[in-house]
This record gives sequence, structure tokens and C-alpha cells, in this order.
Amino acid sequence: MEIQIGEGPDVEALMHTEEVFEPSEEFKAQANFGDPAVYDRAEADPEAWWAEWAHKLDWAQPWDKVLEWDAPWAKWFVGGKINVSHNCLDRHVAAGNGDRVAYYWVGEDGARRTITYSDLLSTTERFANVLKNLGVQPGETVGIYLPMIPEAPAAMLACARIGAVHNVVFGGFSAEAVRERMETSHAKVLITADATLRRGEPLPMKQSLDEALDALPDMRHVVVVDRTGGKVETPMREGRDVWWHEQMLAADADCPAEPFDAEHPLFILYTSGSTAKPKGIQHTSGGFLTGVSATHNAVFDIKPERDVYWCAADIGWVTGHSYIVYGPLANGCTSVLYEGAPDYPHQGRWWEIIQEYGVTILYTAPTAIRTFIKWGRDIPDGYDLSTLRLLGSVGEPINPRAWLWYRDVIGGGRCPVVDTWWQTETGMIMITPLPGITATKPGSATRPFPGVSAEVVTHDGEIVEQGGGFLTLRRPWPAMARTLYLDPDRFVETYWSRFGREVYDVGDAARVDEDGYFWVLGRTDDVINVSGHRLSTMEVESSLVSHEGVAEAAVIGQNDEQTGQAITAFVTLEGGWEPSAELIAELREHVAEKIGKLARPKRIIWADDLPKTRSGKIMRRLLRDIADGRELGDVTTLRDPAVVGMIGERVKAGED
Ligand code: WTA
Repeated sequence: MEIQIGEGPDVEALMHTEEVFEPSEEFKAQANFGDPAVYDRAEADPEAWWAEWAHKLDWAQPWDKVLEWDAPWAKWFVGGKINVSHNCLDRHVAAGNGDRVAYYWVGEDGARRTITYSDLLSTTERFANVLKNLGVQPGETVGIYLPMIPEAPAAMLACARIGAVHNVVFGGFSAEAVRERMETSHAKVLITADATLRRGEPLPMKQSLDEALDALPDMRHVVVVDRTGGKVETPMREGRDVWWHEQMLAADADCPAEPFDAEHPLFILYTSGSTAKPKGIQHTSGGFLTGVSATHNAVFDIKPERDVYWCAADIGWVTGHSYIVYGPLANGCTSVLYEGAPDYPHQGRWWEIIQEYGVTILYTAPTAIRTFIKWGRDIPDGYDLSTLRLLGSVGEPINPRAWLWYRDVIGGGRCPVVDTWWQTETGMIMITPLPGITATKPGSATRPFPGVSAEVVTHDGEIVEQGGGFLTLRRPWPAMARTLYLDPDRFVETYWSRFGREVYDVGDAARVDEDGYFWVLGRTDDVINVSGHRLSTMEVESSLVSHEGVAEAAVIGQNDEQTGQAITAFVTLEGGWEPSAELIAELREHVAEKIGKLARPKRIIWADDLPKTRSGKIMRRLLRDIADGRELGDVTTLRDPAVVGMIGERVKAGED
């Protein structure tokens, strides 16, 4: 069986490692979950298992039914009423933990803020009133485009408090990407900042959005956080644009948390799929909070009175939603929130932060780990990382070498490594070790979380007991996406069609080994994973084609030591345009403007034509083979087989 996958890092090497790490007796003894029986218990009655977790939350009204499953439509905790922000804030304060730190915030400029649960509650309440004063109603979408500052979680929680639906856009996306996501989600209010800091320099945010905002007639208000203390020019449009701090002063301090239906939408988060149009993944309240609090507790073995947890993702991605904001806060946990880059002002920045706050749990992406390895195989002397007790990985397959380095060098050989597989759509971690129970193998995400059912299947949907195939999920889970915003048909078609309505088609290839362990290999669709960020080939292609000089473009992911995959674009120019180094720079900049810097092709290869089937479909797989210098298979089905040779010559000659 041939599975087309974006060539993930070290796919073959992933499987060939003999090492197995059993949880230490010491870790087992104190772990939240140390008894393997939990797997059987959850398997025997998954609904009871999830209900047990839901019971740990505060419900304004109990549910009548745990699950209503009319595949692929799920409703969890039917009839229940809950307020997510109450669960993340008020109940901890009411329990006497108001002075516990919610976030140790470290700014990229070295600024420090310590935010307790009481502090975060008051900011959230006040800002919820600001939103109300601006006319935001329950169910309405509020855009958030912010740097990693404490206002970001507060803004999300304020939305949750009043039943507004947040739509966070990663700060690295372009103004054009923000415009598109605001328009398609019908956002009427956007929260942004005057600027974000990049290596010590303020980079205007609000100002860079102005043109895009003017193209959004429905945008009633833009709330601007003054991140830099007035250092960048920020034109404010009368009647639309308001300052966060001024609104906060004018708003009431108290905003009671209103209960909402368990299925009330909590947020939309856009992610890339196989088409040029990003998908608005829709999550709801009660099930989502149950799923993320359960997995955060069990996977990271959280004890709030002991742990200082640092998830080094950005709030603009699902990892930030689930495991910087909702999971940790629901669990009353203390987190680090870091605004800057790992190497600013120096390459020891992360180690400095771990030492300063006594971080016990670090959750990051393999791309960061590979970067650290590149900087030097050892942690520079003088940094004390001995407080660390658990390490997590997410976002892309981790190769055993990086896994082992993470465990040995950062974790000093004593910290279990949890490689957690999940997606924006799953909302919560789905395949992962439980650190007090599961033996780990470097490079494997191990087994499904208790209560989760995963299977690898063939093209025809037959279950593969051992071997490779398509990864599927078989049973509803509380944090699962409920639909795509305003596009239920696409939801069904994308995820619940290939193997039937009851089977969620993940879009990843995986192997199962002799112990039933899962090894996720990479995407099976046209999604590229750059540094753990999902990008669609079609989205990048359509941004290239929107340049006046480009007639046609095909984009593929190529292996990259640093970023896992990197974008390579094959570009055919319009008549009258000549290839040049300047044009390469211009096209890269063009993509940055359309989507964001993260989508800039690393490599652009000029092609007079692209390999297409007779029906006109671009053969990306062939382009991947050409780019990597692999032997090409049968090309006679191509409309013009000569194209392949021509592009091959270009690649060889390094004309790109
Ligand atoms: C990939 C990020 C291997 C996978 C939470 C998935 C992984 C996509 C892992 C989702 C992992 C994520 N091992 N691959 N531990 N975690 N992926 O939606 O291809 O940004 O489908 O969610 O990242 O990316 P997303």
C-alpha cells in the first residue's frame, strides 16, 4: 500500500530504536495516575470516565445526559450549564487560592509581571464589561490579534465570561490573513496592540492593520492595548478605535459570570486544510473544558501547589488555547507566559526563565529542541534546570535523536518525556503517554489517552493491527470540534466521509508497532508542517498566484533539519517576466504580506511548466521526488512528460 505523506523528519529512523524507558518508581509513587487499571476503567465506560472529569468542574446546572451522538454530530453534557471563565478564575479565588500565581509573565524586553488568580479575575471582569459596553452580545465573534501579553488570556476569558466567541489570530499572521479571518467569522470587535516586540524593536500591529480594517465595514470597534507606552505611531479612527486602558478605567469592576449551555460556542480557531480557504474550527464550552482539564492534569501530572508549568507555544495556536489558557487555569495551575524568542537577548533565555521560576514542566515543539541542539549539545554551564520533572513535546513527529537529547540534556535523564499527538480539531491531547504509567519509546506518542479510541486503517478502512496506514479516531471525545464555522458540509466531507460517518479521518499517517504503540509519521494531505505550524500548500500557492508576475505555482514541503518541513515553490512566470534573485525576494515578501512570514517559501524554483496529469491536476508527489533528487517512477501519464526533465535540470543546476 502506498501512502503519500509529506516527508516527515527521519520517518524510517523513527521506528528503529530499541530503547524503552519505564516510569521510575519514584515518579510512579507520586503521580496523579500511577495505576494502569485506569485504561481499562475508561475503556469499559468512556462516558462515565469523562463524566467523572466533568464533575470536577463547577456546573451552574447539572447535565441530563453525558453524550448525544448522532454521528458526526456530538453534544456533550446535554442540558448542563457552565461558565468557562468562572471555572478558570472565580472558583479558585473562592477556594482561597486568589493569591496563587496564574502567570509569571516575562516580556521580551525583560519586563516581569506576576499575575495572581485574583488579578486575572479582576482584569477579566473589567474587560468583560468593556466588551459589553462596546455592544458585544453572547454568541458574537470577537477577534483577538495580540502578542503574548497577559491581556491575551484575559481577553479570551472575558469573551468566555459573557458568552462571546473568540477568534484568535496568531500574531505572526499578516494583516491580510487577519482581514480574511475577521470577515469570514463576522467579527464586529477586534482586540489588538499598538505593537509587538521583535528582538528589541517595536513592530507596529494596529497601524499595519489599518488598511485591512477599513475593508471590514462590519468592524464596529477595535480595542488597542498600549504595549510600548506610546513608542509607535498608532492612528485611532474616531468612533471605532479605542484604547484598552481608557476603556478599563471607565468600566465597572464587577461582571458576574453568566451560565451558558454546555454546547455554547467558546471559540473559533482557523487552521489550514487542503484548500486555500482556512477552516474555522468550532469548539464549545463544557466538553472542551472537561477534555483539556482532564488531559492537562493527567498528561502533565499537575499538582497546582507544587508545579510551575511552562507551555512555550503561542496563544495564537490551539496549543496555547488548550494548554496555556483553559487547561492550566481550569486546574488552578501556575504557568509561565513568555513573550519573546528563545534567542533574544541571548541563547540562554529559556534556561534563565526555568531557573528563575523553578519551572517543573516544560512543554514545547521538536523544532525548538532541534534549534537548541544546533546551538550546542550541552546546556551552557551555570544554568540550573534541576527543578524540571517532566518534559512534553507537540506539533510534529519528534525524531529519536532529538527526543533523547531532550530527555538527557534538558531533563538530566530523570524527567519522563511525553510526546503528545493531537490537533486543532481534537481540541485536546489524544495520543500520549501517562508519565506515571506508560513506558516510553523515543519518537512514539505511545497510546491513546484513556477513553480515546484510535486505529490505523488501510485505504479501504480496514483496521491494521500492526503496520502503517491512515490514523483514525473512533469514538466521540468531549473536546472534539463540533463543526466548521458556518460550514457543516465541509466538516462532514473533510473529516467524516472517507471511512464513514462514525470514523474521524485525522489526515495523518501512522504506524502501530508490536506493542500497539503509535508512531505518527506526518500528514497525508496537502498540509505542510513548518516548525509545528500548519500551512496549506494551496493557500501558499494561491498567494503566489496573486502576484501579477506569476502564472502558476505548485508548493511542496521538503525535509528541513531545522523546521521539520520547509516550503519549496515551483513557479511559472507570466510572459514578459524574467527570473531573478530580486523577483525571488519579491515573491517571498508577497507571501509574507498575504499570509505571514511563516509561510514564506524557503526555496523558489523556476519552472516553464508544471507536471500535470491529463486532467490537469498538478502532481505534487513528482515535484517532491524531483526536489529531493529521488528516482522518478512512471511519468508517461503526464500531459507533458518532458516537463519533469526540465525541472530536474533546474534543480540540479541550482538555478533556484
Ligand atoms: C502534527 C497542534 C507527530 C500532526 C497540536 C497533526 C504531530 C498536526 C504531533 C496538528 C506529534 C501534532 N507527533 N505529529 N506529537 N502533534 N502533530 O492543528 O500532523 O496545529 O495532524 O495542532 O500536527 O497540528 P495543529
